[in-house]
Amino acid sequence: MKGNIVVVLGGTSGIGLETARLARAADAEVIVTGRDQARLDAARDELGATAVHLELTDNAAVTRFFADLPDPVDHVLFGGVGPFYAPIVEMDFDRASAVVDHFVVGTLRIVKECATRVRPGGSLTFIGGTGARRPAVGVSLAAIGTAALAAITANAALEIAPVRVNTVAAGFVDTPLSARILGDDLDARRQELRDTLPIHRVVGPEDVASLILTLMTNTALTGAVYDVDGGQQLVP
Ligand SMILES: NC(=O)c1ccc[n+]([C@@H]2O[C@H](COP(=O)([O-])OP(=O)(O)OC[C@H]3O[C@@H](n4cnc5c(N)ncnc54)[C@H](OP(=O)(O)O)[C@@H]3O)[C@@H](O)[C@H]2O)c1
Repeated sequence: MKGNIVVVLGGTSGIGLETARLARAADAEVIVTGRDQARLDAARDELGATAVHLELTDNAAVTRFFADLPDPVDHVLFGGVGPFYAPIVEMDFDRASAVVDHFVVGTLRIVKECATRVRPGGSLTFIGGTGARRPAVGVSLAAIGTAALAAITANAALEIAPVRVNTVAAGFVDTPLSARILGDDLDARRQELRDTLPIHRVVGPEDVASLILTLMTNTALTGAVYDVDGGQQLVP
């Protein structure tokens, strides 16, 4: 990774920030994006990173961001914009359309940008999840996103080769996003996972980031989804 340029879209918190830390520790140059200025400043100060304000649902802004990147970059991580949960009968369909557009077409846009901005043999990695593989009330859009991401990953790996394309699929990860979603139930959920996961501990962002660094550096890996969930999907 020494001297490589690593771009982390959503790199100011959680899995993205931890990936930026590991890349920096491996002597890569890091470019992180986010929306919150305080988190951008903190990432820049901690990592010596270039920190860029970018709203990932703003297609024009995403195109401008890629056009302004150094040419070429070595690795891109696209963290996505988080999950959307709603039972179908209660769904706001305007919002659902925007979410599907972002999950599917937005992801294809990132592939297209990386086709010309990432060097041959470099990588594009997406973050997905294992949770919505099992049907449950409220997860239909997350399930669509999960299926779409696997399909896009495999097809993009052929279309933009020799740039490599992979996805990490996480279960519960102990990040600020999980804390926001669970609120007062966070500690109980952590304990439940310690009690039930085969690994007897909670998965942290550093566990996911470590796998992402492997996907960036192991040049045999492309077109696949790699699970990192501590065995969560095996537990009833
Ligand atoms: N945590 C989990 O358990 C888990 C499990 C499976 C999959 N995932 C997925 O992994 C990804 C990262 O999750 P995380 O837990 O690391 O979240 P996090 O701690 O909240 O970090 C998310 C990062 O993405 C940025 N971001 C979010 N929405 C954005 C938007 N619309 N435009 C621009 N930047 C945006 C945030 O920047 P700002 O703070 O400035 O908005 C932040 O840098 C998410 O897509 C999530 O769905 C998470």
